[in-house]
Amino acid sequence: MILKPIRKAVFPVAGLGTRFLPATKAIPKEMLPIVDSPLIQYAVNEAREAGIEQMIFVTGRGKSAIEDHFDIAYELERTMSERGKDLSVLEPTRLGAGNCAYVRQQEPLGLGHAIWCARDIVGDEPFAIFLPDEFMHGSPGCMKQMVDAYHRLGGNIISVLEVPHDKVSSYGVIAPGSSEGAVTEVLGLVEKPKAEDAPSNLIISGRYILQPEVMHVLKGQEKGAGGEIQLTDAMAQMIGKQPFHAVTFDGKRYDCGSKVGYIEANLAIALERPDMADEVRAIALDLLA
Ligand code: UTP
Repeated sequence: MILKPIRKAVFPVAGLGTRFLPATKAIPKEMLPIVDSPLIQYAVNEAREAGIEQMIFVTGRGKSAIEDHFDIAYELERTMSERGKDLSVLEPTRLGAGNCAYVRQQEPLGLGHAIWCARDIVGDEPFAIFLPDEFMHGSPGCMKQMVDAYHRLGGNIISVLEVPHDKVSSYGVIAPGSSEGAVTEVLGLVEKPKAEDAPSNLIISGRYILQPEVMHVLKGQEKGAGGEIQLTDAMAQMIGKQPFHAVTFDGKRYDCGSKVGYIEANLAIALERPDMADEVRAIALDLLA
């Protein structure tokens, strides 16, 4: 099977981030830091680890901090150099010339619409999607695990994880077919079902490898759950026409679109960092005493 490689990643970052207001009034949700790196940086690192070269950001008004983050900061760097400070900390923010593209979603009409806005830059090749507020932590990273599965299976691959049944109505849910190891065949997809109607408790967790045909489906996609154009609805139409599998991520996922998940991620990462773990553990124990 000759497969086109996954070279491009789309990062939809045009959402309003209302759950984090007022923090996200002037700062994109994706720039909120986990310890000292913004969420978007972790997602870009994960893409690079999976061999992806071209980063496509679907932005909206008020998101220019993301462009600045991945640009050269001449004044900052000159001043740091003059003061003898280590510039290597900025290394992950450097994307190669021509390796990042920005496209605007003028109105936040939904995730499916945001992806469709990137259609001309994606072109006629399979591509990855990262929702940066889903922070996937593990080694190898989530997308690397998915790309490895893609090389075996081709078609479309989404990452999934199990949640308690009463939580499914906030997410896209899969109807699972047969499983082998971490890979499950996807027989159906439904966005934000009622708990009693949900086909499983396996939810889509913010990472996708999709074939370019999804863009044609999105073009005619009607509004779905929440009055938004849903990516899940478009993907559902591709099942049966192309291979469609889910990979259960071997790692930890933090839902950083929610405040509690965000706090959990900060604490967890701080407790892994050799430069601060002991101090943070002591503080946490003290607070809990
Ligand atoms: P969310 O459902 O988390 O929405 O979007 P949101 O606007 O970011 O946050 P809340 O719910 O108001 O707090 C999931 C992902 O899809 C992107 C978001 O930026 C986020 O990465 N998105 C969503 C868009 O790019 N455009 C949209 O129209 C909707």
